[in-house]
Amino acid sequence: MDESDVQPVFVNATHEHPAPGLSRRSFFFAAGAAGFGGIASALTAKPAHADSLAWMQPGNNNHVIELQEKASYANGAVAIDYYGHCAFKITSPSGATLMFDPWRDDPSGAWGHWFKSKFPDPVVDITLSTHTHFDHDAIDRPQSTMILDRMVGKYQFADIKISGFADKHACMAPGWYKWTNALAEFGVHACPPNNPGHMDMVTYLVETGGIRTLIWGDNRHNPAPGFWEAVGHIDVLTLPVDGSQHILSYEQANGIVERLKPKIVIPTHYLNEVTTYTLSTLAPADEWVKSQNSYKMLDSPSLSLAAADIIKMDREFMYFGGHVRTA
Ligand SMILES: [Fe+2]
Repeated sequence: MDESDVQPVFVNATHEHPAPGLSRRSFFFAAGAAGFGGIASALTAKPAHADSLAWMQPGNNNHVIELQEKASYANGAVAIDYYGHCAFKITSPSGATLMFDPWRDDPSGAWGHWFKSKFPDPVVDITLSTHTHFDHDAIDRPQSTMILDRMVGKYQFADIKISGFADKHACMAPGWYKWTNALAEFGVHACPPNNPGHMDMVTYLVETGGIRTLIWGDNRHNPAPGFWEAVGHIDVLTLPVDGSQHILSYEQANGIVERLKPKIVIPTHYLNEVTTYTLSTLAPADEWVKSQNSYKMLDSPSLSLAAADIIKMDREFMYFGGHVRTA
């Protein structure tokens, strides 16, 4: 069964009639807020399980075997392709490919239509997700040989090292849209330590081609003790900042940038007209980007970064804007 065969369940969200078999409390316990998948499982009250569709994928693992058999890996540039929202494909100098945080609409329909299409289905070696919210977890969409869903710890393959750091989702909405209030209204703790699992987070450090890239996900601005020391120095930092300040406020994000002092900052989780509807309540990130000392409005969805070329950069903001890969 392809995802296209899965019909979203539209919840009648009146106070009196949340949905058949679903109390308002359980709805928000499972759903959280903005970005907050898991509603479908609450609708049927099933225990957690994985319905893998991978057996129907076209293609095979030939490329992974090819990389596995290489005796050495060439130096070279790292490619970053933007797929909208928080989704990136990173290609190592050897050609290993990682896809982060493919997105989808909330399968229950409760959070409405955020995206204008299904996530594309490019061929990649590994797909990774930072957390289980719908705008980050369409892990079945890429044609991927491996899936590392919320991976914590270390992983190494070809010329790529990945470290996953367990942390927590931002749990106090800093912008005008107080989506985290929804959890409190239904008696759920958005913030740790008693948060539901969908408010857990993994932040990924990717090391390849001499460049250290931190995929922030929707992590909170004040991570757990030891986080900063664990991630070490960062060359490329992705951060979820938009004009509505949905996940991080400008001030919080600027504090992270000041602390890590990366060479390059790439905004994520903002409204772009190619992939995302205004109904998401997100806004573009232009205002934040243009408030920075140095920024570049990119004219393509692709970046090629060589360690030697970025070594002298200091907090250079690179904004993809509406330049998004659609295939
Ligand atoms: Fe998100």
